[in-house]
Amino acid sequence: MSDPDRAFSVRRVDYADTGIAEALASVLVDCVEGGASVTFLHPLSSAKALTFWTDALASARRGERVVLVAEDASGSIMGTVQVVNAPAENQPHRADVAKMLVHRRARRTGVGAALLHAAETVARDAGKTLLVLDTVTGSDAERLYARLGWQRCGTIPGYALGPHGELCSTTVFYKSLFYESLGE
Ligand SMILES: CC(C)(COP(=O)(O)OP(=O)(O)OC[C@H]1O[C@@H](n2cnc3c(N)ncnc32)[C@H](O)[C@@H]1OP(=O)(O)O)[C@@H](O)C(=O)NCCC(=O)NCCS
Repeated sequence: MSDPDRAFSVRRVDYADTGIAEALASVLVDCVEGGASVTFLHPLSSAKALTFWTDALASARRGERVVLVAEDASGSIMGTVQVVNAPAENQPHRADVAKMLVHRRARRTGVGAALLHAAETVARDAGKTLLVLDTVTGSDAERLYARLGWQRCGTIPGYALGPHGELCSTTVFYKSLFYESLGE
């Protein structure tokens, strides 16, 4: 997933990487500080963010999800996204795309789009045919998903709190990799 024309590359996390949970935690803290509604309220402590990533990486090690990272030439993490297998036994074909996070210093350079493309490739390679996600209505992320061909299902008003406690609506998206493969 490396492109010589880009100033970054995207790869699956190697769970043996030292310091990977800490690096991912600092991206998460930065996104919450920047006003992103991604599970946590502001202020998010480094310790809580680290616990989140330690659990996510343990889940990845169990094969429940794949964690992808974008990093610059020096190996510094610029962003991340996850492909999370649906837990229900009657949805082996489905996964969620979750925790798409790009550090503020690296935004608007194509990192988010590259992570989303890579997540779709990982899902396709794993035999998934349906991807689902939700995001804050009117956010930068909503534009990103629509731009990359995701279908809007609808909006749920007041679904979650933003980092400063304000109610936010969420928009649910899906992408069918099955129909995409048929060219529809
Ligand atoms: C949403 C998010 C992941 C997007 O990441 P990103 O790396 O900035 O995404 P991209 O760079 O691919 O695209 C963002 C914008 O930059 C533009 N862009 C991309 N490369 C560019 C370049 N080289 N020069 C100028 N603009 C560029 C894109 O066209 C896009 O424009 P738009 O927002 O006006 O449509 C990021 O804003 C983020 O982490 N937000 C906080 C966390 C969050 O809300 N996550 C979503 C959870 S569901």
